[in-house]
Amino acid sequence: MKKGIFIETENVSRFESVMRQALDTERGRPGMVCVYSAAGLGKTLAAERHYAQHGGAYVRVWEDWSQQAFLQAIAFELTGSRPHGSDRCKWAICEALADNRRVIYVDEADRLNIKRIEDLRDIYVYTGVPIVLIGELGLPTMLSARARVDDRIPGEYRVEFTGISATDVMLYAQEAAGLDLSPEASAMVAKGTKGNFRRIHNVLLSLEQAALAADTVEVDADMVKRVRA
Ligand SMILES: Nc1ncnc2c1ncn2[C@@H]1O[C@H](COP(=O)(O)OP(=O)(O)OP(=O)(O)O)[C@@H](O)[C@H]1O
Ligand SMILES: [Mg+2]
Repeated sequence: MKKGIFIETENVSRFESVMRQALDTERGRPGMVCVYSAAGLGKTLAAERHYAQHGGAYVRVWEDWSQQAFLQAIAFELTGSRPHGSDRCKWAICEALADNRRVIYVDEADRLNIKRIEDLRDIYVYTGVPIVLIGELGLPTMLSARARVDDRIPGEYRVEFTGISATDVMLYAQEAAGLDLSPEASAMVAKGTKGNFRRIHNVLLSLEQAALAADTVEVDADMVKRVRA
């Protein structure tokens, strides 16, 4: 399968439309953004792509990060240096953003201590830049424990990624593997994987082999049944 294929799924479109609003200082609405879902639905890839196109700071949370290590990681992304001490880091981050508005993306934010989320809120209150918190299904509940944080995430900035649709499966199979899945085959793959993109990718690897062995690019429901058996 081809590497680096990116599909504009319905989840990606919703995420990008929220980011357009959050970045539009004239007509958009200020706010922090929360992106959440079960595993493997494409949150990280969508956020990484947005970051690649718009810049800013992208950090993936490490287990048991101290306050200083967390803030240093963000400061490093924005300034290229890691100031000593949490306070200095926060000021460096705020100053870097005052000159140049950029997004801070925090992936796997549900692994953070809630106090680190409060640090992000401080940065948000000071700079007004969009801060994107990405995590699993429990993230909104975790955030709801802190009204000061929760109140800064407007309803429309809470983006739940849902299972990949049969249409997106068909598109991905075509672009990544050159396979023509019938509507029935696409629906079976979407259902059998519960719309999990990571699993869809694995099924398509098997279908690619099966199609090659059968010397075809057409995949029907029978072929899907065979590879999943
Ligand atoms: N838009 C996309 N286009 C093409 N492939 C994608 C897309 N989104 C996800 N994938 C595929 O699905 C895999 C899982 O996606 P990703 O890691 O972004 O999911 P996630 O929601 O962040 O999962 P987790 O909750 O485990 O962190 C990717 O490695 C990639 O193979
Ligand atoms: Mg992820």
